[in-house]
Amino acid sequence: MIHPSPPLPWDVAFVYALPHGVVVGVHLPGGPEPVDDEPMSRLLAPERALAAGLRGYRQVQFVGGRLAAAAAFAELGTRRAPVLSDEHGAPSLPDGWVGSISHKQDLAVVLVARGRTGVGVDLEDTDRPRPGVAARVLTAPELAAVQALPESRQWVDTVVRFSVKESVYKAVHPTLRRYVGFGEVEVWPGTDGTDRVQPISTDLQGFEFEARHEWIGCRVLSTVRALPTARALAG
Ligand SMILES: CC(C)(COP(=O)(O)OP(=O)(O)OC[C@H]1O[C@@H](n2cnc3c(N)ncnc32)[C@H](O)[C@@H]1OP(=O)(O)O)[C@@H](O)C(=O)NCCC(=O)NCCS
Repeated sequence: MIHPSPPLPWDVAFVYALPHGVVVGVHLPGGPEPVDDEPMSRLLAPERALAAGLRGYRQVQFVGGRLAAAAAFAELGTRRAPVLSDEHGAPSLPDGWVGSISHKQDLAVVLVARGRTGVGVDLEDTDRPRPGVAARVLTAPELAAVQALPESRQWVDTVVRFSVKESVYKAVHPTLRRYVGFGEVEVWPGTDGTDRVQPISTDLQGFEFEARHEWIGCRVLSTVRALPTARALAG
C-alpha cells in the first residue's frame, strides 16, 4: 500500500521506481481555475505555449502531467525535454524515452522509462461503485469471473481490469494508431500485483504484455509494457 504525502498543489506527491519505469504523482489544485503564473513558469517554453491554449481542468491536468514528467526526468538523472501531445493526444517524449500520463481531479501521474517499448499508466478510483461499467468494459468470461467473486470484491476487481485495459490502450495506441475496444484484451488480475493480459484480437496478439497494479490509498494505479512479439517484428 502506497501512502501519499499531504496535498500542496503542484508539489510532488510521490516518486516510485516501479518495474515498468519511474512513476511520479503531482498534486493538482482540485478546481478548474486557470493555472497561476508560478506553476506555468516551471514548464518548458513549448509546453507553456500548449498549456496557454487550454482551459479549465484540461489545462490543470496538462500542466500537472508535465510537472510530473519534469520530476521523473530529474529522478532518472537525465536532461528534461518538453512533453507535448501527438495528433491522437498521446504524450510525445524525447527519442529513446517512453511515457504515459493519467490524472484525476486532484492528482496527475506520469510513467517514464528508457527505451522504445510502449508503456501505459492509468489511475482509477474504487470508492464509488458504478453499476454498468462492468458490462461495458468486460468480456463475457471476465464478467463471469467477476460475478463469481464475493459481492464486496466485485467492484474493485472490475476497476483493476478496467484500469489495466486503459493502460494497455495507452501502451499500444502509439503503434496501432486506432481505437482499441475493451473486448480486444482480457485482464486476469493476480493477487501479487501482477496481472495477466490475454490478447483477443489479431492486432493485439502482436504484443506480449507485462501488467501490474499498485494501490495509492483506495486508488488503483496500473502500469503496462507492450512488447511487440518476434512474429510481429518479422512482419
Ligand atoms: C485515451 C484514454 C485511454 C484516456 O484515458 P482517461 O481515463 O480518459 O484519462 P486519463 O487521465 O487516464 O489519461 C489522459 C492522458 O491519456 C493520454 N492519452 C490520450 N490519448 C492517448 C493515446 N491515443 N495514446 C496514448 N496516450 C493517450 C494523454 O497523455 C492524456 O493526458 P494529457 O492530455 O495531459 O497528456 C481514454 O479516454 C479512452 O479513449 N479509452 C477508450 C479506449 C480504451 O481504453 N480501450 C481499452 C482497450 S484494451
